[in-house]
Amino acid sequence: MATLLIVHHTPSPNCQALFEAVVSGATAPEIEGVRVERRAALAATASDVLAADACLLGTPANLGYMSGALKHFFDLVYYPCLDTTRGRPFGYYVHGGNDVTGAVRGIEAITTGLGWRRAAEPVTVKGEPGKADLAACWELGATLAAGLMD
Ligand SMILES: Cc1cc2nc3c(=O)[nH]c(=O)nc-3n(C[C@H](O)[C@H](O)[C@H](O)COP(=O)(O)O)c2cc1C
Repeated sequence: MATLLIVHHTPSPNCQALFEAVVSGATAPEIEGVRVERRAALAATASDVLAADACLLGTPANLGYMSGALKHFFDLVYYPCLDTTRGRPFGYYVHGGNDVTGAVRGIEAITTGLGWRRAAEPVTVKGEPGKADLAACWELGATLAAGLMD
């Protein structure tokens, strides 16, 4: 069975709402034959990435960059995964207060280095998520998971 790995740093209710919407989309009843694994960014390992078929990343913007937790994840997995995960489909969402540019730039740069293939438009949300933001996150999860169906 194909596996979608969701690696997220979720330090607040607004981030939790985005995470739950992503999981809800990825586990929608119409998506069959896809296992959805969730890992907090500080607990995710290179083995988790190597065992997955696609990755969905979620982070707040902190101090002009992705969270330290997601950065730590990339620090851990970059070289162990570099050789075997080229072409890996991925997607991501970023939650911020006012400016998520640096976080987006950082994720794009690292995933370009890894050779991963972005399989959906990134979702960026500022402040309290509205209905459209949650729908976009749902769609992000569903798109990544649906891409793994036979
Ligand atoms: C130390 C710190 C730095 C932050 N830096 C940024 C930033 O550079 N850009 C931004 O858009 N939001 C920034 N934020 C806001 C966080 O992204 C936001 O608190 C987080 O996504 C959780 O959302 P919430 O507080 O609305 O629940 C920062 C928050 C903290 C605590």
